[in-house]
Amino acid sequence: MNANQQLKIVAKTAAGLEDVLIEELKQLGVTDYEKGIRAVTFYGNKEMLYKANIWLRTANRLIVPFKEFSIKEFSIKDADDLYRQVKRIEWETIFDVDQTFAIDSTVFSPLFNHTKFPALKAKDAIADRFRSKFDKRPNVDPEKPDIRINLHISIDNRCTISLDSSGDPLFKRGYRDSRSLAPIKEDLAAGMILLSEWDKDSNFVDLFCGSGTLLIEAAMIANNIAPNINRAVFGFMNWKTFDEVLFNKVIDEALDEEIDFKHQIIGVDIDARVMGMSRANIEAAGLTDKITLFKKDFKDFKAPDKKGVIVSNPPYGERIGENVDDLYKAFGDNLKAQYDGWNAWLISSNMGALKKVGLRPSRKIKLFNGSLECRFMKYEMYKGTKKTHKLAKADENRQE
Ligand SMILES: C[S@@+](CC[C@H](N)C(=O)[O-])C[C@H]1O[C@@H](n2cnc3c(N)ncnc32)[C@H](O)[C@@H]1O
Repeated sequence: MNANQQLKIVAKTAAGLEDVLIEELKQLGVTDYEKGIRAVTFYGNKEMLYKANIWLRTANRLIVPFKEFSIKEFSIKDADDLYRQVKRIEWETIFDVDQTFAIDSTVFSPLFNHTKFPALKAKDAIADRFRSKFDKRPNVDPEKPDIRINLHISIDNRCTISLDSSGDPLFKRGYRDSRSLAPIKEDLAAGMILLSEWDKDSNFVDLFCGSGTLLIEAAMIANNIAPNINRAVFGFMNWKTFDEVLFNKVIDEALDEEIDFKHQIIGVDIDARVMGMSRANIEAAGLTDKITLFKKDFKDFKAPDKKGVIVSNPPYGERIGENVDDLYKAFGDNLKAQYDGWNAWLISSNMGALKKVGLRPSRKIKLFNGSLECRFMKYEMYKGTKKTHKLAKADENRQE
């Protein structure tokens, strides 16, 4: 893999975030891409691979199909054939015998009843190849391998082998305390903010901030901080093709791109314990001076003078006996009372409670919070009816 070789790279993402991911890729300068299901395939050189790993907020892994290492996709007849063909690959040009590896597999082929079996066959083939060359085999480490390999076998028995360039999933930015309750994943939080059409030149408020994920992601977006700038290890660092000088250049350039956000990023939550977690996470992300927290019921929080956007992930009422209808109603009433001119976005899996907000959403986007199907609703707040709003807008435009 030379520095200017164009690589095919598959960026995996969460359902519903594919278009946001494409926008992110375009911002990085990618021109050649193709939308898939929970994935976007794009083309770029090694520098782009490093950049994409550091910068993409809505991708959770970037994998590079093996073709890029001059190994073509191949068809298999049975498990032994898989073993033979995987053993033929020059694994020793990709990693050292002293490094650990793991294989994840996705298998649609009718040749196998269990997806784990082909992964086991491939693992044996790799180990035997090394043993035959060096009289020694690399160890398997399913938890924290140096080299993560993806094996995909299609329904018509075609095998694609890819290397995971990210290692740990990219949503693990490293700032979050794993003990947090019901947090939203970092990639979903970033995706929601990017979907919210926030201009990044006005205030950002989360009225149910919990452990602070939306606030941290918003602060990174507003200050143009690459979300994985501080990560110590990426999968590609363990490849023999790793170019440390190029990687350091990408990091230095990313640091230079930081900007100063002039408005406020505010988090409100009623729970003191959760607030403590939020404070710790914000500190771990190095964003303490960029985010303001209020331990309050959102009903008692006074809206900032200057307008902006609200993006929130309220409780969904999943706990037995918990009813959040009144909470959602109060949220709608509070928007009407205090947030004239703001846009508010709410994500929830509770469709009944969302109706209690009592406002007509101007957009509804289907997203998944873990396995929960949710709606991400946009409420545009303005005084009076839609008609008067439209007239006022037309007036504004005439005056400009
Ligand atoms: C689903 S959690 C938010 C999780 C958050 N997005 C995160 O990533 O950690 C909902 C939060 O709403 C807070 N909450 C519930 N009722 C509230 C109220 N009346 N005012 C402010 N916060 C409230 C809870 O304390 C909880 O932290």
